Amino acid sequence: MSEKNSPSERQSLHGQWSSRLAFILAVSGSAVGLGNIWKFPYITGVNGGGAFVLVYLLCIVAIGLPIMISEIMLGRRGRRNPITSMELLGREETGSGTWKFVGVIGLVAGFLILSYYSVIAGWTLNYFILSSKGTFTGLMAPDVNQVFENLNQSFSTQLIFHTIFMAVTILIIAKGIRQGLERVVVILMPALFFILIVLLFYAISQGNISEGFTFMFKPDFTKIDGSSVLAAMGHAFFTLSLGMGCVVAYGAYLPKQESIFKTTYAIIICDTLIALVAGLVVFSIVFDNNLDPSQIAGAGLIFKTLPLAFGQMPSGVFFGSIFFILLGFAALTSAISLLEPSVAWMIERKNLSRGLSAIIMGSIIWALGLFTVLSGNELSDFTFWKGTLFDNIDHLTSNILLPTSGLLFTVFAGWFMSKKSSSDELDINRKFQYKFWRFLARYIAPIGVLVIFLNAIGLF
Ligand code: PHE
Repeated sequence: MSEKNSPSERQSLHGQWSSRLAFILAVSGSAVGLGNIWKFPYITGVNGGGAFVLVYLLCIVAIGLPIMISEIMLGRRGRRNPITSMELLGREETGSGTWKFVGVIGLVAGFLILSYYSVIAGWTLNYFILSSKGTFTGLMAPDVNQVFENLNQSFSTQLIFHTIFMAVTILIIAKGIRQGLERVVVILMPALFFILIVLLFYAISQGNISEGFTFMFKPDFTKIDGSSVLAAMGHAFFTLSLGMGCVVAYGAYLPKQESIFKTTYAIIICDTLIALVAGLVVFSIVFDNNLDPSQIAGAGLIFKTLPLAFGQMPSGVFFGSIFFILLGFAALTSAISLLEPSVAWMIERKNLSRGLSAIIMGSIIWALGLFTVLSGNELSDFTFWKGTLFDNIDHLTSNILLPTSGLLFTVFAGWFMSKKSSSDELDINRKFQYKFWRFLARYIAPIGVLVIFLNAIGLF
């Protein structure tokens, strides 16, 4: 290892991104995924709309923004997998390598998230096939619901698509074709955005956009409590891929001269915009069909609403199939970022080949995914704490593990890292932005996370 060099000269063992754009696309590819299009509308529905969205947006700016800057900075300074980077920086800045445990929490979270993420991504693949066969053409809401219920109750269909999705993820990581993927993402992300805009036009012309808009942007604070605020914060972490180490891992390949501030702003704007457009589209369709968001909202929300729109619009078979396959690709670029840190760790620390590491880690995650597959059928009555096994894995990861390790990443960056080191990485010429980041990272983000935690368990 290159500990002898000064930290700012340390080099990654895996090369660097070809350009700032490549980095922005890779992190956006990680950030934009099922979280924006599947999860955001669904939890907004469960948590009553406007007030939840407002808290979520506040969390993005006050907590997500400084933590993303901190994570990219830690990655670029450490230039290793998240665990080793934290160990290295911990030793340099505080004399203790124990900080590596922050990376470990993130790694565990990534494992658990990918286990269910792959099952939901499998649903989108299944919907791609159903859409292209014209299954939804002319269907009304109850029939569209039934299609989803059938899928959720089928162990074998979910298993097949979960297995296909995990196999593709493993293959890409095993080949290490980050370059290839970079190129694909350049086309796929704008294409997905384009289809969302088509859907938005559909929602404006055919759906009930005004009620959708009111539901999403008119806050009614009586509808939220401590646990919805926690869910909003958890989602801010989830959607920006924070607290898991993948942003740290990607930051390790960022060239020294690139501005971390500018890249972060671009990523956050892109991620937030996509979620808001997806939410508007979904709720315009919900209200247009006289569905009740508190009744229909659940993990099946987009699978019960979007096919209704595709079933009725001209060229719906075309747009529907393209939409679900693109969503599958968006999920793939996120899934890769969920698997990469643990595989990078295995290669660097256990000396295994990339292929073998990807297969071992991927298979464990695949097996864990069976719990989610079973949550809709055999084990649907097996509920405790927050609900089914799937509900519990989701709650534990998004709302507890990600915020905890994200909090520790930023506390390290703001309080334990010397001002000299952080300003060296964040560019001393941007004084105002640096000061603003440091203020958010030292005070606002940590206090925000703690208050929301304490509030959710009723202590505040
Ligand atoms: N951000 C991704 C999404 O919104 C999911 C993800 C979470 C990816 C955590 C990496 C790490 O779909």
